[in-house]
Amino acid sequence: MIALARKYRPKRFSDLLVQDHVAAALRGAVAGARVAHGYLFAGPRGVGKTTAARILAMALNCERRGSGTAGEPCGECDSCTRVWNGAVNLDVVELDAASNRGVDDARDLRERAMYAASGEGRHKVYIVDEAHMLTREAWNALLKILEEPPPRVVFVPTPSSIACGTWSAPRGSPQTTRRCT
Ligand SMILES: Nc1ncnc2c1ncn2[C@@H]1O[C@H](COP(=O)(O)OP(=O)(O)OP(=O)(O)O)[C@@H](O)[C@H]1O
Ligand SMILES: [Mg+2]
Ligand SMILES: [Zn+2]
Repeated sequence: MIALARKYRPKRFSDLLVQDHVAAALRGAVAGARVAHGYLFAGPRGVGKTTAARILAMALNCERRGSGTAGEPCGECDSCTRVWNGAVNLDVVELDAASNRGVDDARDLRERAMYAASGEGRHKVYIVDEAHMLTREAWNALLKILEEPPPRVVFVPTPSSIACGTWSAPRGSPQTTRRCT
């Protein structure tokens, strides 16, 4: 079952089913270097929020960027493979907010976000899984990243919600693209 899930887990925006409009918008943003500082992927369980966040992280840091379809990750270079496998990666950080939901965790993340990406042309991507579990104080601490984002840092909370609209980003989050499915 795990092998199957991995085998079919999409590696490219074009592999994302149903979410074509989201995939096209993200691919276009990467291709045109118009990536925002924050993307909020909210929606029910299993629609591909974490998957889309990982593909975005792959696309932004792909070593063969520009060689294939514009904006798509190659899915095969060392950087893509590490993101796809969830391996330790300097530039792509996945935080499980279900078990790290307090203000100290958020401060820790904020401090790490202040360091620039590891190389020229790379982006730091913070994927905050299960972001609906964060405490209000933790959110307030994270807001700082969105208010004064360091260059080339992209913050991607992926909260699950049974019904769209039961969870929303704090007021004042700038440049946050909201997409409910
Ligand atoms: N739009 C999609 N196209 C193709 N495969 C998908 C899509 N959405 C989900 N999947 C498949 O389902 C699995 C689960 O997706 P994912 O973990 O991204 O969902 P999620 O929205 O983050 O769910 P959760 O709310 O439980 O965190 C993925 O490994 C992927 O293989
Ligand atoms: Mg998820
Ligand atoms: Zn690649």
